[in-house]
Amino acid sequence: MTNVIITKHTKGNVGIIRLSNPPVNALNVSLRHGLLEAVKTFANDSKIQILVVLGSGKMFSAGADINEFQGPMANPSLPYVCEYLEKIKKPIIAAVHGSALGGGCELAMSCHFRIGLESAKIGVPEIQLGLIPGATGTQRLPRLTGALKAVDMMVTGNPITGSDALLAGLFDRVITVEEKLESEAIKFANEIISSNIPISRTADRDVCIKGVKKDKNGKFCFEKLMEEKEIKTHLKIPLDAIKRTMIAAIEMPFNHGLEIEQKAFIKCMSSTVSRSLIHLFLSQRKTSSIPEIVKAKLCRIKKIGIVGGGTMGSGITVAALNAGFSVIMVERDLAGIQKGIKNVTVSLERDQKKGRISGEQKSKILSRYKSSLEYNDLSEVDLVIEAIFEDLEIKKALFANLDKIIRKGAILATNTSYLDVDAIASVTSRPDDVIGLHFFSPANIMKLLEIVVPKAAKNDVVATAFNLAKQLKKIPVRSANCDGFIGNRMLDAYSTVASFMVEDGASPYDIDRVLKEFGFPMGIHEVFDLAGNDIILATRKRQKQARYNEIRSVQIIDRICERGWFGQKTGRGFYKYEKNSKKCFPDPEVLSIIDDERKQKGIFVQQFSDNEILRRYMASMVNEGCKILEEKIAMRPSDIDIVKVFGYGFPKFRGGPMHYADQVGLNNILTDINEFAVGEKKSTYFWQASELLKDLVKKGANLSSLNL
Ligand code: 3HC
Repeated sequence: MTNVIITKHTKGNVGIIRLSNPPVNALNVSLRHGLLEAVKTFANDSKIQILVVLGSGKMFSAGADINEFQGPMANPSLPYVCEYLEKIKKPIIAAVHGSALGGGCELAMSCHFRIGLESAKIGVPEIQLGLIPGATGTQRLPRLTGALKAVDMMVTGNPITGSDALLAGLFDRVITVEEKLESEAIKFANEIISSNIPISRTADRDVCIKGVKKDKNGKFCFEKLMEEKEIKTHLKIPLDAIKRTMIAAIEMPFNHGLEIEQKAFIKCMSSTVSRSLIHLFLSQRKTSSIPEIVKAKLCRIKKIGIVGGGTMGSGITVAALNAGFSVIMVERDLAGIQKGIKNVTVSLERDQKKGRISGEQKSKILSRYKSSLEYNDLSEVDLVIEAIFEDLEIKKALFANLDKIIRKGAILATNTSYLDVDAIASVTSRPDDVIGLHFFSPANIMKLLEIVVPKAAKNDVVATAFNLAKQLKKIPVRSANCDGFIGNRMLDAYSTVASFMVEDGASPYDIDRVLKEFGFPMGIHEVFDLAGNDIILATRKRQKQARYNEIRSVQIIDRICERGWFGQKTGRGFYKYEKNSKKCFPDPEVLSIIDDERKQKGIFVQQFSDNEILRRYMASMVNEGCKILEEKIAMRPSDIDIVKVFGYGFPKFRGGPMHYADQVGLNNILTDINEFAVGEKKSTYFWQASELLKDLVKKGANLSSLNL
């Protein structure tokens, strides 16, 4: 046996094969090879009558090795292994604990019997990578569960529990105690042998079509199940593939269905959507690879203090409570703390109403929540997170005070979204214990956590912040300290270019339409209205004194704010809002304000095609991203993609702005920047191309080459 990752034992007449490729038993070439060899050995061993395939560690298998998708597929392929297993003459039982996902589920379905833990998760999440099950799964799943359930599982990508798998026909037997899985599988094996239960091959079954609708031409029709998903996620290619393979499963012999599956899988795999989604999957796991993790010792975090009961402070409180921490929230006055308490309880009540938590769980969570008007009550916390008003001087005064109160060794964190974390750290006697934790609103829902590392921060503190993110189920991204960090600094760049375009002749509503057609959930002016135009204006004024004083100043937002039109909260901003609703309409008065500004400045009004709007917007975003990389604010381009996708609504199916730039071609982006710089005489600074971008274009390299 060339392969060491499969351990095999024989127990009497039962051959046991254990998949062992930590951490998730991804079915890479080495594991596929080893599995095949082990099965062949047992098939030829006259003493062995039946085989059991188990996982190891925390699961059965997370499926095909996604890293292998970036190159040509090596033999033996997973479909081949699945087919081989099903065809051998001795029965095989899959024994599932933890997860059996994608190829892991397909492997289990290729075995002749399945036993699993009630708590196991089994499913086909390939759609989340823009794929379909491609190792015989599209043909096996409907044969086991029926077409309706199979389509639901493939379209949503959501796994089902072991108990549901038993009901759906995916498992033959379930057990409750993990430690007994192997012994119960052996017991099941002996029953099969002693009772002479015949081998049950999935391929030999018919597909149950109960509940499947037909269209007026009598063809099977799954459109209703797919409609919403398609609109939301632009997953047309894999959804079409699911439809085609499902019809094949119902109407054609198994082998013919497999041919259709293979063709459809290859088409999905070569689509840009799938490449983008796979890029995001791999990028998401890369963000925690940071230099500070080496030689770091994690600090103990049990009790968290939150300063501020506003939207951010309350959201962070709920996230921390949900993750099992004790939280004490401090506000400076009664009204503030009452608001904080209300925010937290309302949020948990919403979770209860939606069935995410039970009433009992809610009470348990709330028993870990305290509130206070005394900063001294924070003295014993392990971590304090400040979430107060965005003003550097006020934050500095607060940190000087917290420094005196909070025990030595605790971490002091700021949730600032723009301000200088080094400056905040510098007012304390322990700048090495200070860090930026930039949560996104609503903080209990949004996945992204920008971890802003000031110059003095020690490794233990940074590593603890990354570990905290994991406990909070967030995706952490490391950012060095600069105005706006990664996410908001880029937001400023493309907001600025949007304001230039509006002043020069584009309608804000056209810009928003183009962005939504590109895949953003909201246009940038809708974002302004949501965040509050007053807030955007205040930030812009502060920045003007700092970084952007060479930039041309567009004052349309000033004119809108002068009228008290701050956005959604005032019912009017760039858009008009229906009373007590987020539904908005273009506002002719805003267009005339814009017109007046143009006239007053003597601006020559230009036409912007949709394509030009998009090119300008994306060029500004990518250029700023490259500057962020060359200044070492972000560690790698893929970290920027994660920030923009998980914090700013950049369309997932496009993989993030840096991935998108590689697809478009960096030379094209640079050409655009140079062209826009010539036309933009009023702000030569803004369209200065990043040195890194120029260098990459010169070398003919891609941004992805920097994704280490
Ligand atoms: N291939 C390669 N690596 C994988 C993997 C896979 N299928 N699934 C997980 N990993 C890696 C992660 O990259 C991570 O690596 P790292 O330690 O170097 O960062 C490590 O395993 C642990 O993963 P997570 O951090 O995600 O661990 P969690 O415990 O939070 O989650 C999981 C475990 C639920 C299994 C989650 O990893 C997951 O959802 N994995 C993807 C499952 C999937 O999409 N499977 C389908 C693959 S495509 C397929 O099978 C096609 C087939 O039809 C031909």
